[in-house]
Amino acid sequence: MTEPTTQGNPDYRDSGLVFPPGFTFGSATASYQVEGAFDEDGRGPSTWDTFSKTPGKVWNGDTGDVACDHYHRVDADLDLMKDLGLDAYRFSIAWPRIQSFDGAAGSPTAVVNQKGIDFYSRLVDGLLERGIKPVATLYHWDLPQALEDAGGWPVRATVDAFEEYASIMGAALGDRVHTWTTLNEPWCSAYLGYGQGGHAPGRHEPAAALAAVHHLNLAHGRAVSALRATSAGSPEYSVTLNFHVLRGAGDGAADAVRRIDALANRAFTGPMLKGEYPADLLEDTASVTDWSFVQDGDLAAIHQPIDVLGVNYYSTATVRLWDGVSPKQMNDGHKGAAGGTAWPGSDRVVEFVEQPGPYTAMGWNIAPEGLEELLVSLSEQFPEQPLMITENGAAFDDVVAEDGSVPDPERLDYLRRHFTAAHRAMARGVDLRGYFVWSLLDNFEWGYGYAKRFGIVRVDFDTLERTVKNSGRWYAELVRERAIPD
Ligand code: FCB
Repeated sequence: MTEPTTQGNPDYRDSGLVFPPGFTFGSATASYQVEGAFDEDGRGPSTWDTFSKTPGKVWNGDTGDVACDHYHRVDADLDLMKDLGLDAYRFSIAWPRIQSFDGAAGSPTAVVNQKGIDFYSRLVDGLLERGIKPVATLYHWDLPQALEDAGGWPVRATVDAFEEYASIMGAALGDRVHTWTTLNEPWCSAYLGYGQGGHAPGRHEPAAALAAVHHLNLAHGRAVSALRATSAGSPEYSVTLNFHVLRGAGDGAADAVRRIDALANRAFTGPMLKGEYPADLLEDTASVTDWSFVQDGDLAAIHQPIDVLGVNYYSTATVRLWDGVSPKQMNDGHKGAAGGTAWPGSDRVVEFVEQPGPYTAMGWNIAPEGLEELLVSLSEQFPEQPLMITENGAAFDDVVAEDGSVPDPERLDYLRRHFTAAHRAMARGVDLRGYFVWSLLDNFEWGYGYAKRFGIVRVDFDTLERTVKNSGRWYAELVRERAIPD
């Protein structure tokens, strides 16, 4: 085991720091990653079912067919959350459980599936009974396959379908959900799904990726309005973005950073929080698309007030202008390469430079200072916008001890450093409302299958048995004491 350290910031490792009483400590999962029960109770296929069953797409041929079997073990998992003392649980709803689609590709018609709704209704009730706030994400990447067959996110009809789905969920759970999150990481859905191809549906179409960006933005705005119109309670509204914290290198570093910042960050915060696309984004991508899919009224529809902005953070990235000659280092900054590009318009201009370590088992560099910097930067850009860390955590190759316990000092250290960073950001005036550790359970890590473990609870994928790791015990103490334990 490598000794946990962090580059340049040996002091990001504090204890005793106290969080304010209203601060929300949670943990997160996503439907396709944990539920399993892929064909039960009326659930139709999603793009991730199709993708994971396509040879060569996911490590070892792993699929989410069984995953953590959370669908059947929901009561035990709820008890686990209660034992950990969580204030909140962030989960996602599998759209293909809620509506089934008939009809030819191109004109799918949807039928509401009550059994799917009932599952989430029971989950929400189970959380409330245990004093845990339900934080529900409508879309964490499992698009109904019929909608992909009809064009997927690059076509506008998918936005209409999403709005209808949002209305159904608002009516079904809006009396009890504490926070609605529309989308998880639309960056991944658009650019990895339709550009780079490492995520479902695995297409390599740069122009389609940008159309998907816009339609996901529009889906967010329309869903906020639909949820508001249908939710009987007074939930909060949010969206979760995976911000890229960028460093520049070499000549023209500022331009490289500006380009990637436009594609990765401002393509979403621009329309969602300011009601406009950044002019430089449109210029940088002009050779790929003319953005004629943006229609009158769209930006106003996207620009909805939200109560809290969800922030996912794992590591930093360094970019520089490519010299056009040397072998190009191109990746998506996070999720491995898959043939296409995640950076339409900049793929022949910018390259990613390897980050200095230490690294997690994902190969992602450990940089807690990046989290502090990101939170401070967001609160400077959007001073009125409360923030919530909706994902942060780390994969390491855990070893089960002889007594069955799971000592995971590297994950514990990673969390300590990032909670320290979050606390420092708050001390600098950032309005940070909460922090969700990714993930409650080891689970299906997309293209990496079950090879990468992010859980604070271990899942034995042969027996499906759960074991709280040492990091999970440490986190439970943090939640109990409201202060970073020794
Ligand atoms: C995020 C995803 C989440 C998980 C973590 C490690 O990008 O939202 O589902 O895969 O990365």
